[in-house]
Amino acid sequence: MKPIYLNPTGVIGGAEMCLLDLLAALRADRPDWSPRVILGDDGPLRPEVERLGVPCDVLPLPGRLAALGDAGLGLSTGGRATARLALAARGTGAAVSASTYLAGLRRRLRAEAPDLVQTNGMKAHVLGAWAAPRGVPVVWHLHDYVNSRAVMRKLLRVSARRGVRGVAVSRSVADDAAGAFGPRVPVVALYNAVDLDRFRPGPGDGAWLDGAAGLPAAGGGVVRVGLVATYAKWKGHDVFLEAVAKLPADLPARFYVVGGPIYKSAGSQHDPDELRAKARALGLEGRVGFAAHQSDPAAVYRALDVVVHASTRPEPFGRVVVEAMACGRAVVAAPTGGAAELFEDGVSALASPPGDAEALAAALARLVGDAGLRARLGAAGRAEAERRFDRTRLAGEWSRVYAEACPAAGWRKD
Ligand code: GLC
Repeated sequence: MKPIYLNPTGVIGGAEMCLLDLLAALRADRPDWSPRVILGDDGPLRPEVERLGVPCDVLPLPGRLAALGDAGLGLSTGGRATARLALAARGTGAAVSASTYLAGLRRRLRAEAPDLVQTNGMKAHVLGAWAAPRGVPVVWHLHDYVNSRAVMRKLLRVSARRGVRGVAVSRSVADDAAGAFGPRVPVVALYNAVDLDRFRPGPGDGAWLDGAAGLPAAGGGVVRVGLVATYAKWKGHDVFLEAVAKLPADLPARFYVVGGPIYKSAGSQHDPDELRAKARALGLEGRVGFAAHQSDPAAVYRALDVVVHASTRPEPFGRVVVEAMACGRAVVAAPTGGAAELFEDGVSALASPPGDAEALAAALARLVGDAGLRARLGAAGRAEAERRFDRTRLAGEWSRVYAEACPAAGWRKD
């Protein structure tokens, strides 16, 4: 069985972690398969894929196309009126580079002769659907909502040729996709999972995180609370900073914003200076530290006592919630979209309504003041992760998807 995975970027965000988890699970359980990865950009993802023994090529997306947000993607799809319309709205430069790129990708895929093409991310879904050789099934791994992006929704609908199916990261995303595509594209929900050995409880190195955030090492007894997220504008950085500003200044706690603007999509990310300026304006200097995106997220969670998820829009899945639970840390999460499916409020994590800084401040004050509650949530979070989010289940689950997508490939299913 030879699946080819297309990923638009070379950086490692949530969707890319999912790809790495899937590849690791397949290498362990299906060593006779020959997966291969094609990236739209070089970056830290490539060596990680190769470390798993999976060949990885880079077919660089033209800068213009890489910079387009998903919602802004205009793609020439060889004469389709609707897609042309979409591209006319977005500028011909991107369209020309898109069609040249598509031709190159098509040639590459034909030469590889895969059994199946799987795509990770909206741009890849469109490109993959148009570039896959005739008769080769295409699986869209859906990490995002489709209906909130009008242009992308249209493009995906015209790209939904025969043989395209969707695997959504949560029931919430699956429902959204089913609404957008109708019966033409069968969609199933398959929860992401994590490496429970990598994301495990244990002592953390708070002083390391202090250093990474440019703060002097905190004394003992200080509770470390952090928002861990990419700098996408809807991840709730503002809400977090506003919540911290509502807490008494003498609370024995320190706050961290960990992450960075890792994706290239123009206009969708916070500018780091703007967030720091906001923290200064709220009088939070010295209490809030900013640490860049870290290559070892498990070390970040373990260095924290409380991990905050504060997305203001429905979160498709919310890997941070699961990773932090797996590390046995107390989690406060906005129960929106798929994130609401990941934990039991008050048992394995605390829910705090999205966009409500007041409520978040109250939840944080409670957690900072109650070590017992933090420990109970952490233990129950780990148990929930072990029960539902162990990545060893991925090989079997995805094999069933692939068996349905290409029954003729003749490989074992379970
Ligand atoms: C996207 C989603 C996020 C999810 C991740 C992995 O980044 O926004 O919610 O956790 O993909 O599926």
